Amino acid sequence: MSEATPRVAVVTGAARGIGAATAKRLAADGFAVAVLDLDEATTKDTVQEIEAAGGRALGVGADVSDAEQVQAAVDRIAAELGAPVVLVNNAGVTRDNMLFKMTEVDWDMVMNVHLRGSFLMTRACQKYMVDGKWGRVVNLSSVSALGNRGQANYATAKAGLQGFTKTLAIELGKFGVTANAIAPGFIQTEMTKATAERMGVPFEDFVKAAASQIPVARVGQPEDIAHLVSFFVSEGAGFVSGQVVYAAGGPRA
Ligand SMILES: NC(=O)c1ccc[n+]([C@@H]2O[C@H](COP(=O)([O-])OP(=O)(O)OC[C@H]3O[C@@H](n4cnc5c(N)ncnc54)[C@H](O)[C@@H]3O)[C@@H](O)[C@H]2O)c1
Repeated sequence: MSEATPRVAVVTGAARGIGAATAKRLAADGFAVAVLDLDEATTKDTVQEIEAAGGRALGVGADVSDAEQVQAAVDRIAAELGAPVVLVNNAGVTRDNMLFKMTEVDWDMVMNVHLRGSFLMTRACQKYMVDGKWGRVVNLSSVSALGNRGQANYATAKAGLQGFTKTLAIELGKFGVTANAIAPGFIQTEMTKATAERMGVPFEDFVKAAASQIPVARVGQPEDIAHLVSFFVSEGAGFVSGQVVYAAGGPRA
């Protein structure tokens, strides 16, 4: 990779949390980074931090579950930053409820953002990876893929992403493209903060309680996941594909 023509990485849901940490990490690794989130204005902080550190970034607004917006976003990234050959499907939402209370709207919303979104983004970006005979896809699964009370929709989507990842690995491998999934445990972000709020528990107590169940005796931080993304997209990781790594501070959720 020469400094004049850095490879281009797209990180979805990169305005905050795991996505923001990943965008910053990939920029530090030498990629030009498209910081994609629902509203372009919310990407400003991540973009500015990358630029302040001497990196190159482009803020892009798009709903990953909308085919037209995805195509327009990927076209813009290719035109303004270069061919997107690294894709991190990180955008996510939760709409938790017990099965008997779960609405179709909440089921569809979670499926659309995680599954449809990852499908649309990957379909739009794979062309550039295949053309360039090199690419990396990293999908954000979750320990919830193993089953989690109150998350029938989310657990299903996160398990689905593991099948998606393995299929991408099989279809795209011969073009120099790898696909892997990361299944994080408890990571301290707005998403887990919202869960604490919903349960009526102060976030600090929620984090402490979670940490007490985790073998490394702490919850995860966005940078823990960004580090693993950095490994999967690295040049040397070209023989690692179709894998799911549980990053949960221990052997299981
Ligand atoms: N935080 C955790 O403990 C945890 C654990 C396992 C997996 N994950 C997964 O990691 C990913 C990031 O989680 P986080 O904790 O940083 O969440 P977060 O809520 O802090 O950030 C998610 C980002 O995705 C964006 N987003 C949501 N819907 C979108 C859409 N349709 N199009 C584009 N962007 C959209 C949001 O605007 C937000 O900026 C998610 O896929 C999540 O399911 C998180």
